[in-house]
Amino acid sequence: MKRVSLLLAVALGLATAVSARPAVIECWFVEDAGGGKLAKKPAALLLRQGAESPPPRPDLAPERYLKVHDPAGTLQAAFRQYPRDAPAPRCEMSLYVPLPASAKWLSGLTPEQSCPRALDGTWLMVSMSSPFLSLSSLLRPQSEPQPEPALITMATAVLTVFTHTPTPRIRIGQDALLDLSFAYMPLTPKAATSLAPGPPPFGLEWRRQHLGKGHLLLAVTPGLNGQVPAAREGAVAFAAWDDDEPWGPWTGNGTFWLPAVKPSQEGTYLATVHLPYLQGQITLELAVQSLSGPSLEDGIGLFLSAFLLLGLLKALSWAAAYLATQNPTEKKLE
Ligand SMILES: *[C@@H]1O[C@H](CO)[C@@H](O)[C@H](O)[C@H]1NC(C)=O
Repeated sequence: MKRVSLLLAVALGLATAVSARPAVIECWFVEDAGGGKLAKKPAALLLRQGAESPPPRPDLAPERYLKVHDPAGTLQAAFRQYPRDAPAPRCEMSLYVPLPASAKWLSGLTPEQSCPRALDGTWLMVSMSSPFLSLSSLLRPQSEPQPEPALITMATAVLTVFTHTPTPRIRIGQDALLDLSFAYMPLTPKAATSLAPGPPPFGLEWRRQHLGKGHLLLAVTPGLNGQVPAAREGAVAFAAWDDDEPWGPWTGNGTFWLPAVKPSQEGTYLATVHLPYLQGQITLELAVQSLSGPSLEDGIGLFLSAFLLLGLLKALSWAAAYLATQNPTEKKLE
């Protein structure tokens, strides 16, 4: 490749040390209620389950109580570094419609004219966000809830994208490394199609959102030929699948590297992983801290000392006022 993109295959070792939590993520199903309004209904995702049957949730409609089949183990892996005592991430889900990517440089991903019939039917896009995790997953629910003791709908995680550093804070002049992991399990096994075994081509793009407009910083299409826009601002991505299974699931790394960050590079970053008719996107907030100016911690320190000083001054003036009001009464008593 003539791009400044580095293709690195890194063994992920997902099988090791998968944390035992969380089992259930409470979520909101958000849909358009018409008239520019959104309706929110409670939902829950069962991520992990032992031998016992799922706990009954009479408060949820069966189609919004989802038992997630996650062949790549990505949702569990995403929570591996999640602090035990941190609040659960905010979770929302909505209906998703498979569409080809609009960018010309991604047209090679969907050479066939129409969306394969296998993708027909319901799709859900789940988004989770917290200071420790930003995650997006495309779920394919089964059409009928399982008549288990608890009514629950099975759903397969087809494409999942996440980062452990949703709010990176980088000192001015330092390099920013924005981590991004993803996983894909095709709905139609490649064995059943004419495609060659092994991980498929994909598209990765990183954008910065500025004044409502996305600026493309980096675009790569590992495994595809064709022109992609040149990388900007010296950006590099580690865009590669980590494993070489013939039929999937596959996990990949799309970590983004921006050299010597400047204050103007602060802002919202959008990372998108493209597979045929499916897109997984997450956002990150990059803060650039100045060297001369106070960092947040210093800022808090300054604020606290100012606060204490103010308190002291107040106490002194209160004492002075007290003395001033005391004196006349003392005089009166004399
Ligand atoms: C992805 O690649 C970057 C750069 O090599 C590395 O630092 C990071 O640990 C990798 N992420 C995973 C999950 O392996």
